[in-house]
Amino acid sequence: MISGGMRIAGTTLTLVFLMFLFVGLSFGADVDQAALKQAQQLFSPLPKVMESEQNPVTPEKAGLGKMLFYEMRISMDGTVSCAKCHPISLYGADGLRKAIGNHCEVNPRNAPTVFNAAAQISEHWIGNRTSVEDQAKQSLTGHPAFGMAKYEDVEKRLKGYKEYVALFSRAFPGDMNPVTVENFAKAVGAFERTLVTPSPFDSFLKGEEKALTAVQKKGLETFMNTGCAGCHSGTYVGGQMYQKFGIVNLYWKHTKSEKIDEGRYAVTKNEADKYVFKVPVLRNVEKTPPYFHDGSVDDLETAVTIMGKVQLGRDISSEQARDISEFLKALTGEIPADVMTVPLLPSIE
Ligand code: HEC
Ligand code: HEC
Repeated sequence: MISGGMRIAGTTLTLVFLMFLFVGLSFGADVDQAALKQAQQLFSPLPKVMESEQNPVTPEKAGLGKMLFYEMRISMDGTVSCAKCHPISLYGADGLRKAIGNHCEVNPRNAPTVFNAAAQISEHWIGNRTSVEDQAKQSLTGHPAFGMAKYEDVEKRLKGYKEYVALFSRAFPGDMNPVTVENFAKAVGAFERTLVTPSPFDSFLKGEEKALTAVQKKGLETFMNTGCAGCHSGTYVGGQMYQKFGIVNLYWKHTKSEKIDEGRYAVTKNEADKYVFKVPVLRNVEKTPPYFHDGSVDDLETAVTIMGKVQLGRDISSEQARDISEFLKALTGEIPADVMTVPLLPSIE
């Protein structure tokens, strides 16, 4: 009798427990659903290729562009290629505070990654290049980059290789004189437009809720709800607007910056653009330290904490900084297999 009563009580307890468990789980699932919905409004998955009407991507152009990305013999001192400052093996950035160009000249700013870079509103930290094509062309004569005196000198050097002449003709059929700096820029730009790295976050945005860990989901929610996504949003989690670095607090008080960079003011000469920079793309950010335009910060959690302070006037707790950083790691994507191989370059016959 007594034991029967206990058994009934025990069964009831188990039932009640199971009910709570069920309600708890479905509540958790609801929270996940809500986070996914909010994320789908703020971000979107990467395209296969970052298309451009002005420069449609073809395999011939992108293939030539990949070779030119590694070509050092078109630089002033013969040591500089795109790959020097944007090595694929380091996720398209060089890991230095400031990039080093021909004759070891130091660049004024940190080199951002070339991955997922082609669809931004502009290129460079201060937006002084209109597109990846414009960027590629101008870096040839850029003093701290390739350092060539004239575009014609680059064309002359390229024409010295029969294989390049043939590849340019194939990539730009119908051009009477295909070996030009314009076409160099189009080929390199086409290659850059294929540098897309789909990540667990893309799977998540497509509805695969388990693609992120519990901590990453928590970090994503903090990222959305503390205001980071007010600036870092869209397909690329950045790259779509200019903002002052130091909206609430002066940035150089927090970043050990040795020199104060006036940012986009250099482009527009507009007083309101002082200390304004392009909001960087955060895809693969885990893999591309050091951080900020001056490369002054080495670790991601510190960069996140500084952002909270100077952009939002918030003291991000160390737990929040860790969660957000874990979320940012879900933006680390896979480098396409054909991008991972090094091309052979032509030799002079
Ligand atoms: C000497 C090092 C160096 C070389 C060589 C170099 N870059 Fe860069 N690259 C940089 C630096 C530094 C920046 C940032 C410049 C700035 O914002 O002031 C940059 C910026 C960029 C950006 C803009 C990314 C963004 O998010 O705004 C792209 C794209 C890029 N480089 C592609 C290339 C390509 C393609 C080549 C070869 C044609 C090349 N770079 C050669 C150092 C270099
Ligand atoms: C008001 C706009 C704005 C807000 C809000 C904002 N950021 Fe930024 N973020 C920027 C700008 C602008 C930069 C570039 C700063 C520079 O010039 O170096 C940047 C840079 C970064 C970088 C360095 C990226 C790199 O490659 O060097 C990280 C990481 C970052 N932000 C994360 C965050 C996080 C996390 C939050 C929320 C706590 C946040 N940001 C909030 C505008 C913003």
